[in-house]
Amino acid sequence: VQRADFVVVANRLPVDLERLDDGTERWRRSPGGLVSALEPFLRARSGAWVGWPGVADADVSPFTEEGLRLHPVRLSATEMRDYYEGFSNGTLWPLYHDVVVPPAFHRSWWNAYVRVNQRFAEAAAEVAAPGATVWVQDYQLQLVPAMLRERRPDLRIGFFLHIPFPPIELFMQLPWRTEIIRGLLGADLVGFHRPGGAQNFLWLSRRLAGLEPSRAAVGVRTKPGVVPFGDRVVRVGAFPISIDSAGLDALARRRDIQQRAREIRAELGNPRKILLGVDRLDYTKGIDVRLFALRELLEDGRVDPDDVVMVQLATPSRERVEHYRQMREDIEREVGRINGEFSRVGRPPVHYLHTSVNREELVAFYTAADVMVVTPVRDGMNLVCKEYVACRYDLGGALVLSEFAGAAAELTSAFLVNPHDLDGVKNALHAALTVDPAEGRRRMRALRRQVLTHDVDRWARSFLEALGSQPHTE
Ligand code: UDP
Ligand code: G6P
Repeated sequence: VQRADFVVVANRLPVDLERLDDGTERWRRSPGGLVSALEPFLRARSGAWVGWPGVADADVSPFTEEGLRLHPVRLSATEMRDYYEGFSNGTLWPLYHDVVVPPAFHRSWWNAYVRVNQRFAEAAAEVAAPGATVWVQDYQLQLVPAMLRERRPDLRIGFFLHIPFPPIELFMQLPWRTEIIRGLLGADLVGFHRPGGAQNFLWLSRRLAGLEPSRAAVGVRTKPGVVPFGDRVVRVGAFPISIDSAGLDALARRRDIQQRAREIRAELGNPRKILLGVDRLDYTKGIDVRLFALRELLEDGRVDPDDVVMVQLATPSRERVEHYRQMREDIEREVGRINGEFSRVGRPPVHYLHTSVNREELVAFYTAADVMVVTPVRDGMNLVCKEYVACRYDLGGALVLSEFAGAAAELTSAFLVNPHDLDGVKNALHAALTVDPAEGRRRMRALRRQVLTHDVDRWARSFLEALGSQPHTE
């Protein structure tokens, strides 16, 4: 194995192996914000990426893809069920997202989580050069920092959590709470999106890992707090993630993308206003909330079905997990209900696409949309809303954004909504649809100032600086 000075370890590789019905296989881009954020950053550097190729029992040797060295980790079908669908997405995901659906606690899932984390730690130990920096990502791999440190004390280890870190009372439900905290404390720096997550982690570290009380928490907002742990110190801080803002801005200005945006508008029948939702089909995203709001606005006559269409792009996600199936049925039923009630022939109010689209097409949709609707009940950051803003160099468009997305702390000039308050969501949608153009431009200018100056490169640099590591740019 060729060793690397800078290694990212994530559950998924940035590319996903797709098995087609005819037995052939091909690679496509992996879903989700983690990959969107890290890929452009790592590509520009001589990095290696350790991760799972997205299907069970795939034996893939390490390979290089456009300058990125990929090291696949194999998962069996049982491990995929118990570690990925089970503990990661049936226990941790709902627990960390405010128990939007009840998390399930099973020892067999936990045991698989420990085993698979062990395997990722072994793979990382093999790939990392002496003294290398290893950056472990997200909730699927919270035990890796300590497991890796045990094998390779020479490494500099960072950990970043891409989803919310839960309130203390919720985290305490987890039967394996101490193991998780100890796993994370194996890192030199533990990063969260929000200061609140960092504060909760500091409190739990003291309570569960028996650390000396420290005044570190006060430092969280400005510089990482410090937790003395054995003969080391662990730094804990908040690092709000972002996007490749300049890259998206440039893409949105391309003539072919502008042309495609006009085509999309025409294909939708040139409505006066286009509402857009772009999400993985996940119960945290509040897709149902925006559909209920739209239906009531149509019922109340505040929105005219001749004027307004909504496009919902829903990326298939975790389809074998029960709550995801259930939610898909609920959403598709609601789409059918709205369209059944308010369509004219050739003109349904909701265009629902259960698919993912590539970056160019997505940017064309952002460009075509008059109102971007982002209404999660809980979201670590949410990159989609930042991407929309980065694409609106024309200062057109309006953003409706949930207060419960991490991004709301930065995007304060959006139409902010509480997704639990249906009347509030309706009013915000209506306000965004009817906003005075000068006011709309004022808001978008303020949003863009934030997104263009706080991009993913800045996020990665500030994390790695706090970790005391700066990988060289090629
Ligand atoms: N995305 C995409 N194609 C699609 C839908 C989404 O490439 O059809 C990308 C989108 O550009 C964004 C990411 O998926 O970068 C979603 O990230 P976000 O943080 O909003 O949510 P997550 O899926 O990570 O919960
Ligand atoms: C979120 C998580 C990522 C995950 C992505 C897609 O962004 O934070 O860790 O990769 O969703 O989910 P999936 O289960 O398909 O990897």
